[in-house]
Amino acid sequence: MSTALSTSASIGIIGAGTMGAGIVAVALRAGHPVYLHDTRQQALTKGAETVTSSLDRWVKRGHLTADQRDACLGRLTLATSLTELASCSLVVEAIVENLEIKQELFRALEGIVGEGAILASNTSSISITAIAATLQKPERMIGMHFFNPATVLPLVEVVKGEATCATVVAQISELAVKWGKSPVECKSTPGFIVNRVARPFYAEALLALQDNVASPGVIDAALRDAGGFRMGPLELMDLIGHDTNFSVTRSIYDAFFQDPRYRPSLIQKALVDAGWLGRKSGKGFYRYDESASQTEIAFERTCSSPNLVQQFGDFPGAQILGRLAEKHGYRIEKHNGEGYLMIDGVQLRPSLGITATEIAISQNLDQVVLFDASTDHETASLVVLCKAETCLRASLDSAIGFFQALGKQVVMIDDVAGMLVTRTLCMLANEAAEAVSHGIASSEDIDLAMLKGVNYPVGPLSWADAFGNDNVVSVLDNLAHTYPDGRYRASALLRRKAQTNTPWKQL
Ligand code: NAI
Repeated sequence: MSTALSTSASIGIIGAGTMGAGIVAVALRAGHPVYLHDTRQQALTKGAETVTSSLDRWVKRGHLTADQRDACLGRLTLATSLTELASCSLVVEAIVENLEIKQELFRALEGIVGEGAILASNTSSISITAIAATLQKPERMIGMHFFNPATVLPLVEVVKGEATCATVVAQISELAVKWGKSPVECKSTPGFIVNRVARPFYAEALLALQDNVASPGVIDAALRDAGGFRMGPLELMDLIGHDTNFSVTRSIYDAFFQDPRYRPSLIQKALVDAGWLGRKSGKGFYRYDESASQTEIAFERTCSSPNLVQQFGDFPGAQILGRLAEKHGYRIEKHNGEGYLMIDGVQLRPSLGITATEIAISQNLDQVVLFDASTDHETASLVVLCKAETCLRASLDSAIGFFQALGKQVVMIDDVAGMLVTRTLCMLANEAAEAVSHGIASSEDIDLAMLKGVNYPVGPLSWADAFGNDNVVSVLDNLAHTYPDGRYRASALLRRKAQTNTPWKQL
């Protein structure tokens, strides 16, 4: 096997499309001679143009000088034949997402490149073990999964197939760092890290929409402005394209032998069937033609509430909300209890996977309002509330007035178990926990992958530590009671963390 890959090592990139062109620019900028191959001349020409514009953008932003850009372009060879890649120490494949075509390409490459060359695939869903299966030396095959746009997003999943040699893993991780990227090592399992752990972000929103919990605008606003995510799940699916998102969901569902946790949504299937693929077709959950207007969200009318707040016991976010309330002139009276606020006779509780109505019945108290989770109660501009069937408008107004006085916009949703943000964050944490327990990657790498690959505001497991792993398990158990199909079963490792009060992040 070859030793560390120096900047003088030639890199071959196969496939001059969206991903290939991005990876070429990254490798050129790092100083390598690069050979770009595509079966279509037109794709090669277009790929070279894309590489040039990426380099130009870096010059404009001051990351490269014009001379460095010219030197980069001088190191690029457009290879019309695969045999031109003979001298490459590493070949990264970014061609069509098809197992047989990728296998055929790598078999051909084995006869062209040197003994020590590493073969990498940028596949986003195909098993590295399966791609390597027909090779003579499967130990040199690895996944090098960049995120789109590869010139911007820092994450690279370094994916180990069953046969991949540990030295190859170390060499690729080291190289990714030299290329300015953040590598995370993971096993070749369906969806690797990001595409697997992110499934609930989409799935919970689709389920909420199917259950008529709230409109698309409210669901997106909740995850964006309370959850802290850069985009809401539905607007993000419109951007990715429903055909792509639905096909990834289906392939992960099938790869896990129809585990209900990954079940695709009928709503998304209907959008695909209708050809409403999102932005690219002008219509998805939202319309993108000229007649489209801004999504209207019905915020609650301005209310006021008395300035005495009684706090009973502790609950996730209690400290932050208490501090905010005091800052805004509220007087906080602390009592023992099981974790809620009392304002003007209304009980205000965090959502823990039980509906407000169920709490009202079990407490024999009509006036119950729940608030949804947030990744940061301090900075969130929005709070999502729901109320028990028995809760009177005047009581609800006190709860609304309290959050408005803290500077937050308030939206109401249907009284549903786990609300919107709570169930999404708990399911993300559960999926991350399950991936750790299956040995896919470490908890640190999973959090890092979600931060760097998809810009999450916080790693799912760090959030679980902050919310309390016991609270995450309670939410999941309560949801599993409401939806007893196995979708919400808590990971055994997460449950152990909760039982022993051991954080994911070791102090
Ligand atoms: P693309 O369709 O933009 O480009 C693929 C290129 O490969 C085309 O130019 C095509 O002519 C060329 N090609 C096809 N078969 C070939 C062969 N046998 N030999 C040489 N060239 C061939 O595709 P894109 O989006 O760049 O995806 C490429 C790979 O990267 C896929 O495996 C995909 O799953 C993966 N990926 C895609 C991401 C995305 O957001 N588009 C993100 C991360 C991974």
